[in-house]
Amino acid sequence: MKEGPSLLIAGSAACEQAAVAKWPGANIVGSFRDLALIEFILSSVPVDIVAVESGLPTKGESFQDWVARFKNAFPKVSLVILDQGWELAEKDSSSAVPESPNVLTPQTIVVWSPKGGVGKTFLATNLSCAAALSTGGKAGLLDFDLYSGDVAVHLDLFEGPTITELVPVLADTRPEGLDKFCLRHGPSGLSVMCSPRRPELSDLVTPEHVRGILSLAARRWGLLYVDTPPDITSDVVGECIDAATNVVVVVTQDVAAIKQVKLAVDILRRLGIKEERLNVVLNRASKDSLMPQAKIQEFLGVELIGSIPDDRKAVERSVFEGKPVVLYSKSEISEALWQVASRLSPGLVRDKGQKKPEKRRGGLFW
Ligand SMILES: Nc1ncnc2c1ncn2[C@@H]1O[C@H](COP(=O)(O)OP(=O)(O)OP(=O)(O)O)[C@@H](O)[C@H]1O
Ligand SMILES: [Mg+2]
Repeated sequence: MKEGPSLLIAGSAACEQAAVAKWPGANIVGSFRDLALIEFILSSVPVDIVAVESGLPTKGESFQDWVARFKNAFPKVSLVILDQGWELAEKDSSSAVPESPNVLTPQTIVVWSPKGGVGKTFLATNLSCAAALSTGGKAGLLDFDLYSGDVAVHLDLFEGPTITELVPVLADTRPEGLDKFCLRHGPSGLSVMCSPRRPELSDLVTPEHVRGILSLAARRWGLLYVDTPPDITSDVVGECIDAATNVVVVVTQDVAAIKQVKLAVDILRRLGIKEERLNVVLNRASKDSLMPQAKIQEFLGVELIGSIPDDRKAVERSVFEGKPVVLYSKSEISEALWQVASRLSPGLVRDKGQKKPEKRRGGLFW
């Protein structure tokens, strides 16, 4: 048996690696993903340190409540929360509830465009993953493109519940109860509510449901992102825009897209959406285009909050792997997305490590 403290780990393989690297001489009692199992083991096995991945699913309570209860129940055990991300950063047990490095105000950021195929889902998945990385998983993404949502494709989330399972029990659901109907995107720690898997199930979701879910989700996650369909007449889009603290309108250099976005921006203004809530982002920007950024700004009468380059190779790879480009270390497109994310939420800082984790070095018991 090795010298050193005894260590019990709850989290993913990346969390396990981070814990092993942090306490190289520790005697690893075990590594699991289930917090209830950790408590069960502690009731009979003496352990010095419990390292827990931030935001791990809990049963019937929030992660923060679990931390508080754990500390009461096992006062002698040193609890260390590890923030998720490719390079896991340890937080001191005295502040066991993970906190973002800067103060962030709760926000509901709705990504929308009247034009299809301009990159709404691409932006919604990237911005929300950036937020999750930056806040230790305190971010959620709702796919409200109910008839043809692609969030699951962009994030490679195919198994598990969707909004369809939530709708019948929505009236009795509390904010923490949403977790049961969400999937966790492992590489970023983002909580994701996917749209119905089959279009014929989409009619079951009404605008009232959408309103209810938006309200619950805003209370569940500090930073909430919403992907939407390209339909200005949709009641679902109306509900999303009503609930939004920020509407991110996506435009490209395509003339038809610019014209449609101009109309949409005018409508949003007439609806009383203030300039600071209206954030236009240029996607697929190319220097070769006849429509440079300055011309688009002039035509739309708004200042663009960001310009994301066209990078087919990087985007195709990211969708193929289910890992948005913000997860990859420096590239022009990743930098541009992080800039938009922090322009929208000024307290949001780039996660320090987005490297691939090293290969797992051991099994469950060491
Ligand atoms: N910056 C970019 N560079 C290269 N390709 C991109 C970029 N942004 C998006 N794409 C690609 O463009 C296509 C459309 O993107 P996306 O699905 O995000 O658009 P959308 O607006 O959500 O479409 P829909 O209206 O159908 O929901 C995808 O194949 C995506 O990979
Ligand atoms: Mg889409």
